Amino acid sequence: MMAQKLLNKKLKTMSMKILIIEDDPGMKLGLSYTLENRGCRIAAAESGTDGIKLFEKEQFDIVITDLRLPGANGIEVLKHIKNLSPDTGVIIITAFADVKDAVLAMKEGAYDYISKPFNPEELLIVIERFIKYRGIELENIRLKEELKEKKQFQYIVGVSPAMQKVFETIEAVAKTDSSVLIYGKSGTGKELVANALHNLSLRKDKPFIKINCAAIPETLLESELFGHEKGAFTGANQRKKGKFEAADRGTIFFDEISEMALAIQAKMLRVIEYQSFERVGGNEPVRVDVRTVYATSKDLKEEAKAGRFREDLYYRLNVLPINLPVLMERREDIPLLIEHFLKVFSKKVGKAEITISPEAMEKLLTYDYPGNVRELEHAIEMAVTLCSGRAIEPLCLPLEIRGNKAEQGAVTQAYDDLSFTERIKLFEKEELVRVLESTGWKKKEAAKKLGMSRETLWRKLKEHGFPTSLSDLED
Ligand SMILES: Nc1ncnc2c1ncn2[C@@H]1O[C@H](COP(=O)(O)OP(=O)(O)OP(=O)(O)O)[C@@H](O)[C@H]1O
Ligand SMILES: [Mg+2]
Repeated sequence: MMAQKLLNKKLKTMSMKILIIEDDPGMKLGLSYTLENRGCRIAAAESGTDGIKLFEKEQFDIVITDLRLPGANGIEVLKHIKNLSPDTGVIIITAFADVKDAVLAMKEGAYDYISKPFNPEELLIVIERFIKYRGIELENIRLKEELKEKKQFQYIVGVSPAMQKVFETIEAVAKTDSSVLIYGKSGTGKELVANALHNLSLRKDKPFIKINCAAIPETLLESELFGHEKGAFTGANQRKKGKFEAADRGTIFFDEISEMALAIQAKMLRVIEYQSFERVGGNEPVRVDVRTVYATSKDLKEEAKAGRFREDLYYRLNVLPINLPVLMERREDIPLLIEHFLKVFSKKVGKAEITISPEAMEKLLTYDYPGNVRELEHAIEMAVTLCSGRAIEPLCLPLEIRGNKAEQGAVTQAYDDLSFTERIKLFEKEELVRVLESTGWKKKEAAKKLGMSRETLWRKLKEHGFPTSLSDLED
């Protein structure tokens, strides 16, 4: 079997130190043999007390212990070991009848349990999962340490070289009046960077005005930006100040600048060059002192080449580009983003210390995030709201992420912990999410699919504690 070969190789390279505590001599021998064969270093004991003694002498990466043992029982062994060495993974072996105790063991911090009879492969899979899990944990600790020495701005999280460069650029230019052009696909944090540029500037106490060029029709945008004189067009009953005047001494952020109409681009060019313009229908020059920041998800150079964007304006804007890569190209930022959003949303929904199960973490770390940081943020927000226990399970993650390289398993464990009513409730929640996801969170459509009224759906969403931003969502 290919997979098995791979597994053997992995375990060998890790050369784990494993302590086996098992009173059945045959079982003890069998386990030792299997694991030694895979390159693990093994010690074994036949009673709880002997096992503890061995552990006190030297540390082990993993302890595999039977529950029913002479001397101290498995739970006592577990408590003792977790006390001495919280990082050691304890795997419990139970007889079928002891499943209750196994659940207790999980609560006491066991990594997993495995029921007799089992074949060695099953155990190897659990061990491999633990090794992966611990790898992720260690990586997290390393990243946290690293982060302490690195700069962070204004709630922007990132340890990747790309993000560190972004921070450096922000720091270098925030206090100048240069225009900045922020490049990035949807959800990569463009607006966050624009905010930071303003908040760290000398203009921070002055207005910060945002304009989404894609959202305002061309006919309105000009007067919106530059204002108009009385009688400039039908309906212009009095003089109106535009955003440029409103932003005087502050910052204007032009989002989706590529969508600005060519005619208005010409006028923009003049404002940037001379800090002066005329209101629509007027010929008095108005002087302003504004700093401009731009964002685009399109390649402006390409747009200029294609004649959809003025080339001269492109050159004026592109003096200080800031590039935000898609999340897939800076995966090392994912663990910290997860931690950041966990904190934010746990606090927001009034839950304490929510963690993520290794299985859910694996899904989150290996997913591709076409929606970038925003998608990750939403996933964590949903999960924090949905998860009923202390840890987020894959079940609480959005379908796309949960279905990512489907490898279920530990879900059932958490499931076993729940009462029947709780399971039904969880199932209901999960059904709601599934159907809402399939309709793009359109409640009306979802209610129809679910065969319930919108009111019932709304009540259920509230009942399950969905964020108000979701339960208030208009169709
Ligand atoms: N590095 C980051 N650290 C923390 N939060 C982030 C980061 N990047 C993005 N976010 C969060 O992700 C969400 C999306 O970010 P933002 O709105 O800035 O993206 P955008 O690039 O402007 O997207 P769009 O092009 O769709 O408008 C926001 O809620 C933001 O707070
Ligand atoms: Mg944006």
